[in-house]
Parts: sequence; structure tokens; C-alpha cells
Amino acid sequence: SDEPDSISDIIERTGDAIESGRYPLAITNNRDLYELERRRIFGRAWIYLGHVSEFAERGDYARRYIGEDPFIVTRDETGELHAFLDSCMHRGAQFCTAENGNTSHFRCPYHGWTYKNDGSLQGMPHMAEAYQDLDEDEISLEEAELDTYQGLVFGRIAEEGPDLEAYLGDFTWYLDVLFGTTEAGMTVVGEPHRWESDHDWKISADNFSGDSYHVLTTHQAGLETENLARGPWEELDDFPAASYLACTDRHSMGYYLSADADTYMGYPKEIADHLDDDLTAEQRELFGRSVFHFGTVFPNMSIIHGIQSGGWGGPWACIRKWNPRGPGTTETTSWWLIPKELADDESFLEDSHRGWESLSPGGAFESDDLTIWEGISESSGAVTHELRDTRGNMQQGIGAMTDEVEPIDDPLHGPAEVTSKGLYFDERNSRTMLRSWYELMREDGEGSA
Ligand code: FES
Ligand code: FE
Repeated sequence: SDEPDSISDIIERTGDAIESGRYPLAITNNRDLYELERRRIFGRAWIYLGHVSEFAERGDYARRYIGEDPFIVTRDETGELHAFLDSCMHRGAQFCTAENGNTSHFRCPYHGWTYKNDGSLQGMPHMAEAYQDLDEDEISLEEAELDTYQGLVFGRIAEEGPDLEAYLGDFTWYLDVLFGTTEAGMTVVGEPHRWESDHDWKISADNFSGDSYHVLTTHQAGLETENLARGPWEELDDFPAASYLACTDRHSMGYYLSADADTYMGYPKEIADHLDDDLTAEQRELFGRSVFHFGTVFPNMSIIHGIQSGGWGGPWACIRKWNPRGPGTTETTSWWLIPKELADDESFLEDSHRGWESLSPGGAFESDDLTIWEGISESSGAVTHELRDTRGNMQQGIGAMTDEVEPIDDPLHGPAEVTSKGLYFDERNSRTMLRSWYELMREDGEGSA
């Protein structure tokens, strides 16, 4: 074993918390655990890298991270996507000097070795004089596994493991509704926003996985403004009862449905003419009645999609990536996506952009969350918690509540375990995330390395 006893203990106590809900606070912002997370979670899981629309042309590339490891996603001259570690095979220099762009070749700035955008070595300065015994065909960039689902590009460092569709499991059903909605598919608009904050990546991934409970307190000021009152939320007959939580083995989400079958998350009604033929009748109905979805694909991709509010703009789709940049430090990337069919609708674009921005650090909500998340990280990093085994609480929905929150047996809601009425008061999504974390972190688990 490569970890101190206390770290193994914390991991095992976290495993127990999937049932009890009493998780060790020392799981958060813990330096030793963080180093294990880099290898066991970010080294083993499928990690979101971007959307295919960002790599539409041959030669398009962008810098994206898997854990703390810098990768360059490229589309090569034959149209194939790759993710290369940004590390030259000569001395390991970073060969890519821009965030994104279009190029057929990368030339390392240190000594000038040059690679094609398929990762193969093209050549180097003074090759004939410099090398007598070098097989340049054997040298190519270090490459991650790469696969896509509904236009979402994922990479994986480990060479072995479940393929992407198996890793996403039943959650693919919901990704179809969110990203395979229309025939032309979704497209990213503009450049993603990025910001860094002093919080552990797990806190925000957990928050987006299903924490509506915090909205009542953290965002109370926002809820009391006119902007929300002007939105569609109030018009939901049985709000918040028309809210659902869906947990698969690893990933989970929450969503709000309207009784009205042509709600379409607030998109212009013409979207109904463009629905993808591959959607099942249930997926179409779910999308038709959808108001708002949010969720987390473990470990660090989150989704928020649907109507924001009349006053705050929307609808819009946003993908968040919580990129670990050290213990207790996260760089967040936020992409704005729209259905391609609506790309020329100026008034939709304006509203949608406003909706996306209302969720940015300059908007109405994000600064509320960031202050809280940074505080959690600082306090949870206290050695007190490790030495005394202080427990946090994810008990909502365990015990008496479980009998009241019966899983819903209706194909409209897809293959996950779905419950209702419990959105504000059930922490099953958080416990699902703990389970995913535990499965990869435990010594004899999938993640053992
Ligand atoms: Fe890249 Fe030397 S490190 S050419
Ligand atoms: Fe929030």
C-alpha cells in the first residue's frame, strides 16, 4: 500500500458513509488524499475534455486537462480526434504555446522537434548531423484514450478500464435528452469562461449533482428579486413537487418538469420540429415537459440546462468542468451550448447568453456559492477533523424518509432510480457521488494502482 494508515481509514469510513450518510469531513481538501485522487480518480476515470463543435475543422486544437495533466485535444488531417500529453518526447517541454487554434504541426519551443497533429514525429533541426542511431518512427506523443458520446469528448489516462458508454452507463439515456436533443446537435458558442477558486473540486461536483437544498439559503437574496418572480417557476402547478432526482450507479441529476407537454426547457417552440429521430417517445416527452436539469457526470463534469428565469435570461445549456489545480484549488471551465438549429435566432441568443452569464462569477449566483465552497475547503482541511474523525452529514432521505420517497416506476423517467418530492430534502445524489469516489479510491477497488 502506498498511503498512510489514516488515509486508508478515511477512505474506508467514506465507504461506510454511503449507507449511513455520516461522511468524514477530512475527505475534503486533504493533501494526502488529493495526491491519491490524481492517480486513482483522474488517472482512471473518463474525464470530460470538450465538445466536438470546438474541433469542427481538421487542425483545430485546444489545451484541456485530465486532473493536473495538460493535454492537447486535436483533430488530425484525417478527421480523427486525439488527446496528447503536452510533453515533448525530447526533454518533456510543453510543445503547445496557445490555449486553442488551428495547426497541422506543433513545433516544440525548446529545441524545435516537430510533430504532426496526429502525434507522430515529423522531424527535428539538424537531424542528420545530430543523430546517428535514432528511429524517428518509434517516437510519437503520449496519447490518452479518447471517445465521444453525443458530441461530448472524454479522455482517459489509464489504458485499461470500461469503455466510455459502459462508464456512463444508464446516464447515457439522460445525456441523449440533454445533448442529442435535435438533429443537428448542440454547438458551443464562443470561448469557455475560466476562473480559479480555493475550493476542493468535490464540493462543486457534489453541489451540481443535486443540491437544491442550498438554494433556499445560499441564494435567498437572488430568490427574492423580481427576476425570479417574473420567471416560469411560479407557474409550475405543483412546484417544487414536480421535481425529480435520478441516480445511476455513478452519475446523478435533478430536474423539474411542467405538466405542460410543450415546455421544451423554454426553447422557442419550433425546436419541436427538429427533434432527433433517435429519441424514444419517453425521451421526447421528458424533454417536452422539462423546465430545468442539473447533474454531475463523475468525477468533474457538471451540467445545467434549461430555463433560468424571465428576468435572468435563458434558456441555455452549460457544461462545467471542475478542474483540480492542487489540494483545495479548482479551475472552473464553463461552456455555453445551444441547439445548432437556433444559432441564427438573435433574440434567443441574447436571452440564452444572459442566462449563461447569470451563472458566471459576475452573475447573480456564483459568488454566493464560491464564498461558501472556499470556506468549506479551509475548514475541512483542519487536521482536527482527521485526528478526531469529525463527521459531516448526508442523511437526508435515509430512514423514515426512504419509505415516503418511493422510487418512481414510469418509463418517462428513464432507467435510473428516480424519486420525487424529495428534491429539496434528499441527499441520495450526494451519496451516489461518495460511492463513485469510494469505488475508485479504495485500495482493492477499480482504482487500485
Ligand atoms: Fe522539445 Fe527539446 S524538449 S525539442
Ligand atoms: Fe448554488
